[in-house]
Amino acid sequence: MCGGVKGVLLAGGTGSRLFPLTRITNKHLLPIGDRPMIDYGIEALVLGGVTEVMVVTGGTHAGEFLRLLSNGHDYGLDRLNYAYQDRPGGIAEALGLAERFVADDRVAVMLADNIFERSIKSSLERFALQESGARLLLAAIAEPEHLRHLGVPALDGNGRIERIVEKPTDPPSTYCVTGVYLYPPDVFAVLPTLEPSGRGELEITDVNNHYVATGEIAYDVIEGFWGDAGESIDAYYAVNDHVRRNGANRA
Ligand code: DAU
Repeated sequence: MCGGVKGVLLAGGTGSRLFPLTRITNKHLLPIGDRPMIDYGIEALVLGGVTEVMVVTGGTHAGEFLRLLSNGHDYGLDRLNYAYQDRPGGIAEALGLAERFVADDRVAVMLADNIFERSIKSSLERFALQESGARLLLAAIAEPEHLRHLGVPALDGNGRIERIVEKPTDPPSTYCVTGVYLYPPDVFAVLPTLEPSGRGELEITDVNNHYVATGEIAYDVIEGFWGDAGESIDAYYAVNDHVRRNGANRA
């Protein structure tokens, strides 16, 4: 595998699970601790060694990201690009908008509502050493009710991923797939093969299941707290409380 790793930070969608907070702004601009939510995603990528990022957003507040993040230099980025998603067609559709930006490089995709207590740097380093395929970051989650809102991997007896089930009624393991996805450049050939799911979106879980099917998928189980601040108002405040107490993206 050749080339570096570019970052794609996804900040589109409607944020409907945080209504009415998100009627007047984009979810990823809401505060977490003392910073706008998207700051943590940029920081996670920069600390992971990424120097070029594309932010994909949409809706009526897209211009605010430019005012907040500017050219990215204050965050330690060499280059910050933007793409506009016309409609919230899903995470995989949003990723497709970054195809020309990523070109022949590998890509670290991150959902901008995901907050990690510990740095994701070690996963990016392992990905850099990986010969081929994708790499996921899993988090251990005890409560089945929580897992039902997430992507959940089924693992075989040797700890290999057998399949990933999106929002399972009956979670097949006690791990979730977090919103950091490390892909080889051929991910952009996978996207056109996807069909919209029951919720009318191109699902990132279908992309991941492609790599499961080809046997080209690795994963790390992360240490420390992980939260999806967009999951519900309760989750939003739980993530806030955790970040205020413990910080985020710590080495
Ligand atoms: O947070 C981890 C979970 O994220 C995974 O466990 C699931 O497998 C994965 O599907 C995803 O689930 P969600 O239902 O939480 O995804 P959501 O629709 O909330 O989208 C997450 C982020 O992706 C959101 O913060 C913004 C971005 N997004 C989403 C959509 C639907 C876009 O940029 N464009 C979109 O069209």
